[in-house]
Amino acid sequence: MSDANGRFGNSADLFDSRLGPGGRAGVLLPDGPQIDPLKITLDQPDDFDGWRDAARELVMAGVPPMSVVWQVRGEDGELFGSEGAVPPPSGEPMFSVPKPFIDMAKAAICHSDPQRFALLYVLLWKLKANRRALDDRADPLVDRLEKLAKEVRRDAHKMHAFVRFREVAEEGDTRFVAFFEPDHHIARREAGFFVRRFSTMRWSILSPEVSIHWDPATDTLSEGPGASRSDAPDGDPLEETWRTYYSSIFNPARLKVKAMLKEMPKKYWHNMPETSLVAPLIAGARARELEMIERAQANLPQAEAPRPGGNIEGAWAALREEAKGCTRCDLHRCATQTVFGEGPLNPRIFFVGEQPGDQEDLAGRPFVGPAGQLFDAALEKVGIDRSTTYVTNAVKHFKFVLRGKQRIHSRPDTAEIDACRWWQEQERAIIRPPLTVALGATAARSLTGKTLTISKVRDAPLTLADGSECWVTVHPSFLLRIPEEARRREERARFVEDLERIRDRAAALA
Ligand code: URA
Repeated sequence: MSDANGRFGNSADLFDSRLGPGGRAGVLLPDGPQIDPLKITLDQPDDFDGWRDAARELVMAGVPPMSVVWQVRGEDGELFGSEGAVPPPSGEPMFSVPKPFIDMAKAAICHSDPQRFALLYVLLWKLKANRRALDDRADPLVDRLEKLAKEVRRDAHKMHAFVRFREVAEEGDTRFVAFFEPDHHIARREAGFFVRRFSTMRWSILSPEVSIHWDPATDTLSEGPGASRSDAPDGDPLEETWRTYYSSIFNPARLKVKAMLKEMPKKYWHNMPETSLVAPLIAGARARELEMIERAQANLPQAEAPRPGGNIEGAWAALREEAKGCTRCDLHRCATQTVFGEGPLNPRIFFVGEQPGDQEDLAGRPFVGPAGQLFDAALEKVGIDRSTTYVTNAVKHFKFVLRGKQRIHSRPDTAEIDACRWWQEQERAIIRPPLTVALGATAARSLTGKTLTISKVRDAPLTLADGSECWVTVHPSFLLRIPEEARRREERARFVEDLERIRDRAAALA
């Protein structure tokens, strides 16, 4: 039913919609016969299908936006009384709406703004006359709806990040229960995300509006009435792992309280075990800062910054576990598994590749296929023992296109690199390597946030945000792809030279 190109009847554009003061859409009435307002009652506040079906009928009957009142059953302000009958279709030809409109409408419909249904209908009305109406970014209506959709997506992102399940024993079985209070009507919309991520767990997400339950035994997603925070249990042993992880990655030198509060708004703190650490960590950071100042004033040597937390192995293991369920971008859908980094947690060198290839995807380990063999041979040649290094990828899922039965590597795009960057940053935050090597442009982007040209940055180290040293060289796959023998040899020799320099720098920094 929810086809990407909804079909609607066509008619002339009778309306001009503008945003008046206060951001409300004002709609100028057309000349001609007026129709009594039609009351459309949707079943749920996020009822996209209901809105689309009604909007389709209305638009095909030529009912202008000013003549429709939208409401949600059972919501405050619902106007009781019978619904008006939608006039029969005007007999005009069907029209289709562009897919971006459907995507935007599906998100915006979940916003808590009571005007959302009406605004979307005005835009639909405009699209009927001009299929490109959505491209007009200067149109305040488009702008407002884009904002609504964006706020909903942001709310969804927060939900993905901040839902924390607690384990509850229940009739000889286990259920994982979380409470989450979103700003918008997103609980149903995001249920699929949690089904994919926690597909084998029996879980419930309680929210004030609706409760969502997943039962993997019967593959059933069901919903129940809204709940309050006190309906969800407090605390479980998993929380200790989270606390370990957060205290290990906490870096007082980079403490930015405002940024932290923006990313992790206080509102969600009740649900998150790790937030019990925030106040002591901040206080500890201040104390350490004061101590540094005092030592500097007294001309005493600075104490080496202690590694906060200390349980590096626990933190890394928690991160690796978390990465198994990563859905930060769509690449997880087709890949076999997340390929996380591996190696000692006190490595001399921290290598970052591009993404797992076919063999890495199947094995679940980085650099074990043809590029890995070339990499290993080059390391051996310069005397770097791979087992003393940590090897990871900028993107943790294999991206490919199918050609027949073959899975052909496809380069990750900037959005995928940036989405996955979080994992690499957390790995580095835990491990804090003195020397990092970017193998290729994707790794360089992940490490620096910039698109760099390798030839321009290859000969001197970069300084990463944490102050550590980073060298950029080519990716081993690049060397495998060079068809011409002489050039291939030349480039391989250059790669080996880069590794020699990196080996020497690692020794100097050790
Ligand atoms: N290429 C990479 O960048 N990483 C791997 O793990 C394998 C090939």
